[in-house]
Amino acid sequence: MESRQVRSYVLRQGRMTAAQRSSISKYWKIFGIDPMAGFNPLESFPREGPLTVEIGFGMGDSLLAMAKAESGRNFLGLEVHGPGIGHLLLGVSESEIKNIRVMKIDALTALEKHLPENSVNRLQIFFPDPWPKKKHQKRRLVNAGFLDLAARVLEQNGLVHIATDWADYADQIKYTFLNDCRFLSTEVPDRVETKYEKRGIRYGNQIFDIAYRFCDLIDQK
Ligand SMILES: C[S@@+](CC[C@H](N)C(=O)[O-])C[C@H]1O[C@@H](n2cnc3c(N)ncnc32)[C@H](O)[C@@H]1O
Repeated sequence: MESRQVRSYVLRQGRMTAAQRSSISKYWKIFGIDPMAGFNPLESFPREGPLTVEIGFGMGDSLLAMAKAESGRNFLGLEVHGPGIGHLLLGVSESEIKNIRVMKIDALTALEKHLPENSVNRLQIFFPDPWPKKKHQKRRLVNAGFLDLAARVLEQNGLVHIATDWADYADQIKYTFLNDCRFLSTEVPDRVETKYEKRGIRYGNQIFDIAYRFCDLIDQK
């Protein structure tokens, strides 16, 4: 996997269970996407539909629930954590849904190089690693550079939906979008509660959901 200089994640050496390992060996060939082979949503999914891309789905239970609930949409999950990918593939195979695909990749690289331009209808990031220490904040996923990558892949009026339980990260995200006239604040869509969110709630954290539409007026001329 290609590595960036400043990464937004640390590869946790969490143990892969036997079931996760076996689900990867059985189902990767069906649901896994090799970025080097190229990703074309029209060829990668059996049915055409608006594309939701989720960055950092963790164990993937909430992504799976969303894909089950919205069978008319296609879902692409981007994650670097092997056990999470194994867990999601197990759930996908058990539920027999067909509208989900997975790439094992740094999402920033995927947005920069592997997803077609103007192809994404929704880009969602639920509980990105918060990197709370000042000296680590350069690792935060959402910054001005990220908005350029999002603008590359989003359709006109495409949606970016971000949730976090870190108030200062929420403020930083809002400030970053406010300074970019290509994005307009919009109503937050419903979503499924995530694993990391449940933990945050147990600690008494407040949850911030933020959504923007991509409206590149220059592009529309
Ligand atoms: C705090 S966890 C949240 C997981 C899940 N969204 C949830 O709410 O339960 C953040 C996840 O983002 C993934 N991640 C962080 N940076 C990433 C990147 N650049 N590309 C892909 N995944 C990334 C991590 O591996 C981790 O699984």
